[in-house]
Amino acid sequence: MNPHANHWDAIWLNAQLATMDAAYGDDPYGAIADGAVAMLDGRIAWVGRRAELPAAWRATVEHDCGGAWLTPGLIDCHTHLVYAGSRAAEFEQRLQGASYEEIAKAGGGILATVRATRAASERELLLQSAKRLHAICAEGVTTVEIKSGYGLDTVTECRILSVARQLAAICAVTVKTSFLGAHALPPEYAGRADDYVALVCDEMLPAIHAAGLADAVDAFCEDIAFSAQQTARVFDRARSLGLAVKLHADQLSDLGGARLAADYAALSADHLEHSSPASIDAMAAAGTVAVLLPGAYYFLRETRLPPIASLRAQAVPMALATDCNPGTSPCTSLLLILNLACTLFRLTPAEALAGVTCHAAQALGMQQQAGRIAPGLRADLALWDIARPAELAYAFGANPCIGRYLAGSATPVCA
Ligand code: NIG
Ligand code: FE
Repeated sequence: MNPHANHWDAIWLNAQLATMDAAYGDDPYGAIADGAVAMLDGRIAWVGRRAELPAAWRATVEHDCGGAWLTPGLIDCHTHLVYAGSRAAEFEQRLQGASYEEIAKAGGGILATVRATRAASERELLLQSAKRLHAICAEGVTTVEIKSGYGLDTVTECRILSVARQLAAICAVTVKTSFLGAHALPPEYAGRADDYVALVCDEMLPAIHAAGLADAVDAFCEDIAFSAQQTARVFDRARSLGLAVKLHADQLSDLGGARLAADYAALSADHLEHSSPASIDAMAAAGTVAVLLPGAYYFLRETRLPPIASLRAQAVPMALATDCNPGTSPCTSLLLILNLACTLFRLTPAEALAGVTCHAAQALGMQQQAGRIAPGLRADLALWDIARPAELAYAFGANPCIGRYLAGSATPVCA
């Protein structure tokens, strides 16, 4: 405890703040001109206009932001970045006319990455994945969600999640893990999907939970993956273990996935291109966040847009993420995703920034810890060489990040 009021560990001065907090007025960015942010014990202790700083404040470290914009550290709330190998050959096949589903049904797709991931040592997996995470973090990202799902056996699923946990320290980032055992049917269970779901529920989930490797449980509810009924079995088991759930829902067809996610009060339902209006209503009632993944939409050359107008009308929070994975979104740039969300999905730049800050935090159940610049939250911050926040979504292929702070500590920003 600090006995001296207004004696802080650090202060950021001479900054334009995009707090992303509704407490700071009607502006969609929660903007504060010539703002200041103070930090104590890794948490934000004071936010406001510099002119309104309390008298007699002191700070051990003073950061002069030189008039740059300070935002919450960005949050990539949906990735599959721990995997081995590449699927560039499948990209070439798709350019020749093969569809994602055809490649998956022929034993490629997710199963191709499962073969490469099972064959990789833990060290290889760590090295390959660290490169991707490092690139993501270089754009001011301070929290990343990482899913398993390329092991599909207990040992490899545990290895993936353990690598994800180890990456937090290596890349100076907060990592939230999701167990995605129900991602695809492994070859040794071909024709026995229910038996595999039993393995997920009765062996994998308890083992992973006991080892503290998963913060949430995800599934892929799709014709080429698992039915709504099978997904419900996984969710029931997750619930019995006290784990939060989220879902890959209605990406390629409408199996009622978003509705199912809402029925289980899921943190988020993700993709949603084929979700019905009734499912969106259910999400609104349940407080389930919509995670939109324009990288996968773009890379698969989808034409059916997610129901943005319904999501807005029902005030369902919209988050955005890279979906970083080798098959549908080999993308390590969250800023590019902001641009795609605006150009392809017609989100506003302010909606896009909310999608990778406050709404992404909510999609991870972290809204009281991250995603806004507000007292009590962790001092996860990103500093940007931009003249206005819309530039984060406007320029693509650029990285204007000039500062990145995790719980108040400066971390390198260059990949
Ligand atoms: O989010 N939809 C399922 N999972 C991934 C794709 C995984 C892969 O093709 O390797 C996704 O799009
Ligand atoms: Fe995904």
